[in-house]
Amino acid sequence: MSMYQDEFRRSIDHPEAFWAEQARRIPWFTPPTTILEYDAAGHARWFVDGELNICHAALDHHVEQGRGDQPAIFWDSPVTDSKRTLTFAELRDQVARFAGALKALGVEKGDRVVIYMPMVPEALVAMYACARLGAVHSVVFGGFAPHELAVRIEDAEPKVVVAASCGVEVDRVLPYKPIIDAAIEQSRYKPEACVVFQRDQHRVELGAIDHDWATLVEKAEPADCVPVKGSDPLYVLYTSGTTGKPKGVVRDTGGYAVALSYSMDTIYDVAPGDVFFSASDVGWVVGHSYIVYAPLLRGCTTVVYEGKPVKTPDAGAFWRLISEYRVKSFFTAPTAFRAMKKEDPDARLMAQYDLSCLKALFLAGERLDPPTFHWLDDLMDVPVIDHWWQTETGWPIAANLQGLEPMPTKAGSATVPVPGFNVQVLDREGEPVGAMEQGSVVIKQPMPPGCLSGIWGDPKRFHSAYMAAFPGYYLTGDGGYFDEDGYLFIMGRTDDVINIAGHRLSTGEMEEVVGAHPAVAECAVIGIHDALKGQLPVGLVIPKDGFDGDEVALEEELIALVREKIGPVACFKQVLVVDRLPKTRSGKILRKLLRNIADGKEFGVPSTIDDPASLQDVHEAMKDRSVGTAHEARPI
Ligand code: COA
Ligand code: AMP
Repeated sequence: MSMYQDEFRRSIDHPEAFWAEQARRIPWFTPPTTILEYDAAGHARWFVDGELNICHAALDHHVEQGRGDQPAIFWDSPVTDSKRTLTFAELRDQVARFAGALKALGVEKGDRVVIYMPMVPEALVAMYACARLGAVHSVVFGGFAPHELAVRIEDAEPKVVVAASCGVEVDRVLPYKPIIDAAIEQSRYKPEACVVFQRDQHRVELGAIDHDWATLVEKAEPADCVPVKGSDPLYVLYTSGTTGKPKGVVRDTGGYAVALSYSMDTIYDVAPGDVFFSASDVGWVVGHSYIVYAPLLRGCTTVVYEGKPVKTPDAGAFWRLISEYRVKSFFTAPTAFRAMKKEDPDARLMAQYDLSCLKALFLAGERLDPPTFHWLDDLMDVPVIDHWWQTETGWPIAANLQGLEPMPTKAGSATVPVPGFNVQVLDREGEPVGAMEQGSVVIKQPMPPGCLSGIWGDPKRFHSAYMAAFPGYYLTGDGGYFDEDGYLFIMGRTDDVINIAGHRLSTGEMEEVVGAHPAVAECAVIGIHDALKGQLPVGLVIPKDGFDGDEVALEEELIALVREKIGPVACFKQVLVVDRLPKTRSGKILRKLLRNIADGKEFGVPSTIDDPASLQDVHEAMKDRSVGTAHEARPI
C-alpha cells in the first residue's frame, strides 16, 4: 500500500485514533480526551473538551520556543509603495495590545467583532486579537457594498466593528468609512463601537461611536490569551448560498488548528522557518486559513500582499514577491494566472527573477482549467497543483499531497481526497456511481476536523443546505467524477452559486436585487463563461406589462443597483431584456436548463460575455422553451 493509501485508510477507518495523533501538533492548554462526539443532530464535534487559544498556538508559543525574532509577516504593498516586516515577538505584542484595546471596549469571550479591512498587517492583528480574547471575528471582504455589510452586521450582532479608513485598488483610494456608516445605519442591530485604523492615504473624521486605533492602543494594557474549548467558535465567515441571504459558516477552534497544522505538513510540505505566500484576501476563506492562521501555526512566515497580480506594477508582481521573500510554497486562484498570461503570454517577466526557492505552486478557488494548467506546467520547474476546497471545509478536500506522497498531476483534476475526507460521487438516488460517471460530490460523515460546525444562528439551514439531500453525507454543491485511477475531477457547481474571478457569489442574491426593481416582472441571473474571470453574471429580465421605458436605461439602472447593493465584486455588467423565461407548468423557472445553456451543454459551446451572438442563443433558446414544453419532463 502506498503511503497515501495507508494514511487515507487509517483516517477513514479509525478517525478518532488518527486525529488524536494529529492533535499532538497543537500546544493545548489542556489536551482533549474526547476526540470525536456527535451533537443531537448527528454532526461531528472534534476535541470538545480540549482547551487552547489559537493566538497562543500561532504566536506566543513560537516566541516561547525561540522564534521571536523570525519574521511572522512580510507585508508588501506596491499600491501604497510600502513594505514592512513584523517578527513573531512584534506581532504577539501588537496583538496583545490591540486585544487589550478591544477588552477596554467591553469585548469578551463569545462576543462577535466584524472586521472590514484591506490587506494590511492590522487586519491580522485584529483577527488574532479577537482570537486572543476568545471573541468571534467575522471578516467582510472590502469589495462588498454597505447593504452586504449591513446584512452581516445584522446577523452576527457584533459588539464592535473594526475597520480601516480606506482600501487601495491599484491606483484608486476607496474610502471605507462611508460604507461602514451606511451599513450601520441600514442594520437594525447597532454595534456599540467602531475602531478605525487611519491610513495615511485617507484619514477620516471620527463619529460618535468611533475610536481611533492608535489612540486606543496607546492607552491599552496587553491582554492575555483566554482559554477556549476545542469546539468553541473562532470565527463566522459569510459565504454565498443559493438564496439571497449569505450563510455564516461557523468554524470551531481546536479542529481548525489541528487540520491546518496537518495540512501545512502533508499538503503544502512546509516546515517552521519556511515562507508561505497565499495571494488571496483576508476576506475569503483562503485568506483566513492560509494567510492568517496556518502559516503562523506552523511557524512559517506569511506574505501579506496588498496588490493585484497585474498592474501593480505589472504582470511580474507575483514572481517578484516569490523571489524577494524566498517563498517556498505559493498559492493563488487560476484567474490570477489568466490575468498574468493575458498581459505577459510568454512570461518574459518571470525570467527576471530567481525562483529557485519555490518548491510548488498551488491553485484553488475555482477549477484550474486545462489551458491555464498547461501554460503553467510548461513554464514552471515545480509541480503545479490544483486542489479543491470551499469556505465550508476550511481546508482542502482533494489535493496532491506534497508532504506525504507527491503524485503525477493530471490536467483538470484536483488529484485525490485528502486523508479525513471520505469523498463519494452519488447519483440522484444516492447510489455511488462508477469511475468516469458524473454525479453529486459528497463527503461521508464524519467530516474531518476543521470543517464548518454550523451556520450562525440557523441550525435548520445547516441541515437543509448540506445534510438533507443525502442522509449521512455532506453535500458539497459541486458535481464531478473519479477517473479509473481514483483521481477526482470537479466540474462545477450543481446549484446557483457562481465563481467570478475566484470569488464566490450567489445568482439568487443578484436576482433578489434585480427582481426588486419596480419595472421588473421576472428575472433570472446566470453565470456564463468568461476567459479571464471564469464566469460572469448575466441578468435575464422580463419587464412588467405596460413597461414603455427605455430598455437600455433599465439595463443600466439594474447594473448600477447590483453594484450599489452587492458591490463591485459581483461584476454584474450585462442585462438582457427577454420576452420569456423557460419554466415548468407550475411556473418555476427552469434554472438548470438556463445553466446548461450557459455551460454549453445545450448548444455544445458555452455562452461567453464577449460574444453577443452566444447571448442571443440564450435568448432564442428561451423563446423555444416556453411554459409547459416537453423539456420540463426531461431530466436536466
Ligand atoms: N475592495 C474594494 N473593491 C474591490 C476589492 C476590494 N478588496 N476587490 C475587488 N474590488 C473591485 C475591483 O476594483 C473591481 O471594481 P471595478 O468594477 O470598479 O473595476 C471589481 O471589484 C471587480 O474586481 P475583480 O473581479 O477582482 O477584478 P479586477 O480586474 O480588479 O481583478 C483579478 C481581476 C483576476 C486580477 C483578481 O480578481 C484576482 O486577483 N483574483 C484572485 C481572487 C482570489 O484570490 N480569490 C481567493 C481564492 S484563492
Ligand atoms: P469558496 O467557498 O469561495 O472557496 O468556493 C468554493 C467553490 O469554488 C467550490 O464549491 C467549487 O465550486 C469552487 N472551487 C474551489 N476550488 C476548486 C478547484 N480546485 N476545482 C474546482 N472547483 C473549485
